[in-house]
Amino acid sequence: MSKVRKHAACCLLFCFAALSVPPVKAWDNGLALTPPMGWNSWNKFGCNVSEDMIKGMADAMASSGMKDAGYQYVVIDDCWQVNRDASGNIVSDPHFPSGIKALADYVHSKGLKFGIYSDAGSQTCAHRPGSQGHEYQDALKYAEWGVDYLKYDWCSTGKMNAESAYATMRDALKTAGRPIVFSLCEWGSHQPWLWARDVGNLWRTTGDISDHWSCAGRKDCTGFLEILDKQDGLETYAGPGHWNDPDMLEVGNGGMTTSEYRSHFSFWCLLASPLIAGNDLRNMTLEIKEILTNPEVIAVNQDAAGMQGRRVKKSGDTEVWSKQLQDGSRAVILFNRGSSDADVSVGWEDLGYPAHLSTSVRDLWQKKDLAKSTGSFSAKVASHGVAMIKVTP
Ligand code: GLA
Repeated sequence: MSKVRKHAACCLLFCFAALSVPPVKAWDNGLALTPPMGWNSWNKFGCNVSEDMIKGMADAMASSGMKDAGYQYVVIDDCWQVNRDASGNIVSDPHFPSGIKALADYVHSKGLKFGIYSDAGSQTCAHRPGSQGHEYQDALKYAEWGVDYLKYDWCSTGKMNAESAYATMRDALKTAGRPIVFSLCEWGSHQPWLWARDVGNLWRTTGDISDHWSCAGRKDCTGFLEILDKQDGLETYAGPGHWNDPDMLEVGNGGMTTSEYRSHFSFWCLLASPLIAGNDLRNMTLEIKEILTNPEVIAVNQDAAGMQGRRVKKSGDTEVWSKQLQDGSRAVILFNRGSSDADVSVGWEDLGYPAHLSTSVRDLWQKKDLAKSTGSFSAKVASHGVAMIKVTP
């Protein structure tokens, strides 16, 4: 072979190799620019899901004030699917007699969005069929049905590589062509905050939440406090379109006091967490509804800058957490983990402000302006409670 021909052949080989290396694919579906808000069936109903119940929940979301407060995704978790037909198409459980497309249409008719659940492995955590080997087929089906949100679990995955398994479904969703929020649920096992920004819109950071203030002393249980502590340090990984997900809300499910639920909700808002309610929306007490729909606390969560709050001070059982908002103000939680009332204070320097700065302070739960403060703010905080304020220079 002449030198020129050899060179041309090398070039061709090189070009081919270069072309066959897949480009780095960033995940930018333009969705979830603020943390997604919605409802999911798992925390309250587990596997007891049905068409009637999901329709009732969509009705309740639209009529209870939840939709007006910003909640939009109605997500069926595990157990809507039962097997696959001879062509490999996923078949819905008989509890969904009209089929999933009809249900999605119903949810859409309420001005809401529709979400569904699957799993990267061969089976879901409730032993229904997973998507392994059917990713493109399932994604096309979801698009055909009008699915707007996919929660994708991690059971029965054996030695699968998490990043590439989730990327396969990401690519399938992309190919299917419908904008679908992609929620990764591998429980933080493979540190998804380090890689999932290019794969999905949100990723679970922990195991499943239990409806307890704390699981200290219990086995196989992760309560509110344990989940909260695992979020500290993850704040740099969150932002518009890609969020840490400390799991769905337990507010209203009965395992905590009203004041504890207020703390749980305050933190999920300050942490820019997805706000996915997990209670029975058809049956909410006024107190629970007021927690889930407080517009000023939700505005902290939905702030356009998309910055996750972080712990700025800890002293025994009391803590201060702060979230920077787009206008330069700070949402602040004064937190008391202890078993009796405590005075909690924050200095402006803890918030990154100069000590001499004069600010207005608004109490977001009481919805009232407090006296102007210079340098610091203190409040008496009840046991397991919070004071949540907005500090504006
Ligand atoms: C896992 C998930 C839960 C829920 C169940 C369903 O445990 O983490 O959120 O989806 O599976 O089986």
